[in-house]
Amino acid sequence: MKAQPGRPWPAPLASIRSARRFGLLLLVTFCPAAVQAADAVSSIPVKWSTAEPALDPASPNWLRHPATTVSVYPQVGVPPVATQAGAATVKVRAQYGARTVALHLEWTDDKPAQDRGVGRFADGAAVQWPMRYGSGTALPYIGMGHGGTPVALWFWRGDGSVETLAAEGFGTLSAQAPDGVKAKGVWKDGTWRVVFVRAHSVPGEHRASIAPAKLGLVPVAFAIWSGDAAERNGLKRLSAWQVLRFEKGKVDAAYEKQLGELAVSGDAGRGKRLMSEKGCAACHSFPANAAQPRIGPDLTYAGGIHSASYLHESLLEPSRVVVPGKGYFMEQDGKRTSLMPPFTGTETERNDILVYLMSLRGQP
Ligand code: HEC
Repeated sequence: MKAQPGRPWPAPLASIRSARRFGLLLLVTFCPAAVQAADAVSSIPVKWSTAEPALDPASPNWLRHPATTVSVYPQVGVPPVATQAGAATVKVRAQYGARTVALHLEWTDDKPAQDRGVGRFADGAAVQWPMRYGSGTALPYIGMGHGGTPVALWFWRGDGSVETLAAEGFGTLSAQAPDGVKAKGVWKDGTWRVVFVRAHSVPGEHRASIAPAKLGLVPVAFAIWSGDAAERNGLKRLSAWQVLRFEKGKVDAAYEKQLGELAVSGDAGRGKRLMSEKGCAACHSFPANAAQPRIGPDLTYAGGIHSASYLHESLLEPSRVVVPGKGYFMEQDGKRTSLMPPFTGTETERNDILVYLMSLRGQP
């Protein structure tokens, strides 16, 4: 059975309904008490334009197009963690021409921070791309990739600079030779608007290869930094993986299915109780857990930044992607093993926990 867009969603997940769902997502109700969960993946349309997209963020060519709202959440998985509480949103527009692809990001910020210096930090925005993607290829860990599964990044700062970077997990960020990305930011009336433009593909290693014609779908993620709040490096807000959908691209049906694949239904209330009964609350912080332990990553925004399939995998195979926080893993012969025991329990219990995790977006 397919998800019915018009159908009322039962509490407590009704709020999630406002998050735009990606393609085929999550469905199937086995029992009447079950709730369905949507994950945080949006489909962002990329408009085709016969002229190449404009670098000027104030161009009417940008502003006349509707934007997709993407939530960004404080990075709390790996210390040092962001101290600003709560989600923010970034409005995303995207266009492409025969040669270039461009992204227009817009977010509110009362006061621009444009200089860098001792104790001063500039505002920033980053676009993160998986270096490899497509049917059968797993997405990199949202926190800048993981071992063997790298990401490419474009990093704009309020002082006007833009850099090309690559990473294979937190703490592995490395500058790359420029890949030709251009970025321009304009702050006006409490709003930053920033455009990134680059050729679809450029030669060389460690570059984002954006192939509109091949798959029609390209995963992408975003992060923003507020310089006034002393945000820099890992102190930032980040989104879940989103999917760019190129207007004239030929969508690879297998890849579309993979990106929207996991069907979960469960009871979030029961999932919350199971977090204590199954020992998760002994290691993880989340709003309903008064103890706030830090043995594993804080899960306060788990449903905002992680896909359902990643959370599913985290439960069953914790060592498949090991979050590289200090004290989160053991290392032997270069191989990292998570300190988290794999989930043991029934499938119903697992789904209840998954639905609860997917509902976690910072709310109490
Ligand atoms: C002994 C402590 C411990 C217990 C018990 C534990 N975890 Fe974990 N968990 C960790 C550690 C450490 C990590 C980070 C290493 C890794 O990636 O597995 C982690 C990672 C995770 C992640 C990925 C988080 C991210 O930011 O990527 C999720 C989700 C998660 N755990 C959920 C659970 C759930 C649900 C339970 C209970 C069924 C549980 N954990 C039980 C220690 C624990």
